[in-house]
Parts: sequence; C-alpha cells; structure tokens
Amino acid sequence: MKTTQTIAIIGASGNMGAAISRSLAKGNYRLLLCANNLDKVQAVAEEIRNSNPGAEVEAADCTREASWEADIIIAAVPYAAEQEVAAKIREVANQKVVISIANPLNNTYDGLVTAPETSAAEELQKLLPNSKIVKAFNTTFAADFTTPVIDGRQADAFIAGNDEEALQTVSELVATAGFNPVIAGNLAVSGTLERMQLLLIQLNNKYNYNWLAGWKILHQSANLN
Ligand SMILES: NC(=O)c1ccc[n+]([C@@H]2O[C@H](COP(=O)([O-])OP(=O)(O)OC[C@H]3O[C@@H](n4cnc5c(N)ncnc54)[C@H](OP(=O)(O)O)[C@@H]3O)[C@@H](O)[C@H]2O)c1
Repeated sequence: MKTTQTIAIIGASGNMGAAISRSLAKGNYRLLLCANNLDKVQAVAEEIRNSNPGAEVEAADCTREASWEADIIIAAVPYAAEQEVAAKIREVANQKVVISIANPLNNTYDGLVTAPETSAAEELQKLLPNSKIVKAFNTTFAADFTTPVIDGRQADAFIAGNDEEALQTVSELVATAGFNPVIAGNLAVSGTLERMQLLLIQLNNKYNYNWLAGWKILHQSANLN
C-alpha cells in the first residue's frame, strides 16, 4: 500500500495556499500549513478539519521544520518572498519536490519582473539547486479550486519540470485538486506558463470573468490513429 505523503504548504494562509490546502485535504496526504503568521494558518487548518474531519492537517510554526518533515513542498508565496523562503528551506529540501506556483507579476499586472529568458521556477531552481523544482498551479486562479469544472469543462492545469518522477507526483496532486493535469514540458517551459497567466489576468480584467477562468486545450482524442 502507498504510504501517505507529507506536504508542506508555505503561504497556506494566502488565497492560493489556503485553496490548495483545502483541495489536497480531500486526498491521502498529511498537510503541514505554514506562513509568517501562525494564527492565520491555524484558522485555515481548523476550518479544513471542521469541514473534513478525516483530513490530516496541522498548522506548523516553523517553515524549516515543516519542510524537513515533508516529502513535497509547495511555495505558495509571492515571487518577492521566494528568496527568503529558499534560504530557510535550502538544507532540508535536498532531493525533494518543490512546487513553484508563482507568477512574477509587476505592480501594475501588465508585465513580469523576471527577465525574458528566465522564469520564477527557474530562478527558484537556482536558489535550490539540489531540489526538484516543478512548476504547477500557476495557471489556475484561487477561485478555480472550488470550481475546477468551469462552464461544464474541467480546467487544465499545466505542469513543467525536469524530473519525470516528480512530474508524475505533481500530476497526482493536480488531479486530487480536481484539475486535468497536462505535463507541458521541462522547467524551461515555465516562462511560457507564467506569461499565459499574465494574459489570463488581463483577459479576466477586460471581460470581467470574476477570477473564475482557466485554460482548456481542445484536442482530438489521443487514441485515434
Ligand atoms: N491568487 C491567485 O489566483 C494566484 C493564481 C496562480 C498563482 N498565484 C501565485 O501564488 C502565490 C501566492 O499568491 P496569493 O494570491 O495566494 O497571495 P497572498 O494571498 O498574498 O498569500 C501570500 C502567502 O504567502 C505568505 N508569505 C509571504 N511572505 C512569506 C515569507 N517570507 N515566508 C513565509 N510565508 C510568506 C503569507 O503569509 P502571511 O499572511 O502570514 O504573511 C501568505 O500566506 C504568488 O506567487 C502568486 O503569483 C496566485
């Protein structure tokens, strides 16, 4: 039987971190929720336990300890906080899957702060050279987690990374959260995924999608010869 994996969610009191935590609590995972403010993550953990008494979820007051215990780490923090988070977890994240969900948006949401040849995920990989960075959950809005089936279609959630086993592990998380996992390519694809979400934010604002929008690749069945 598969053992229960432990996931540290750093930034679990935020919009995305809380949404990811609520979704993954439905799966066979033990969740350790951390952020700067312990009271806020305790409130999220309590809310999850109230709505899902079987969930294995704990608030953790130390990002480093939670990451040490974890098999998988989700950095659900703003891009600007990743350097600080990476410094805290560097020694305990060796060989572990670390998920980068960040979209490195500028203050006016009309561009990215990263240089064109890189991405938030690749910059995190430089900060954590011994971890398996996987880009995921950046092309879904926080609101999509309560409604991953939008207008009758299950939203795709794109994944990128260099380690095949890590990609499969993250695909399972994405499916548990209710999205259709699509492995888009290696970590270098992250820049495209981050720009896709910049576009979706701009479309959201232009067409008033109310932050309930996602991507869906329409395609012919892969089984057709
Ligand atoms: N919102 C979306 O729909 C969406 C969609 C896709 C991707 N993203 C990406 O998801 C990430 C989080 O976005 P969000 O909207 O959830 O932001 P948010 O609501 O502002 O939450 C940020 C979280 O990060 C924590 N945090 C900040 N600095 C930290 C640090 N140095 N160490 C530990 N925790 C820290 C905060 O904890 P405290 O409150 O305790 O400070 C909070 O829990 C961003 O990178 C964003 O680009 C967001």
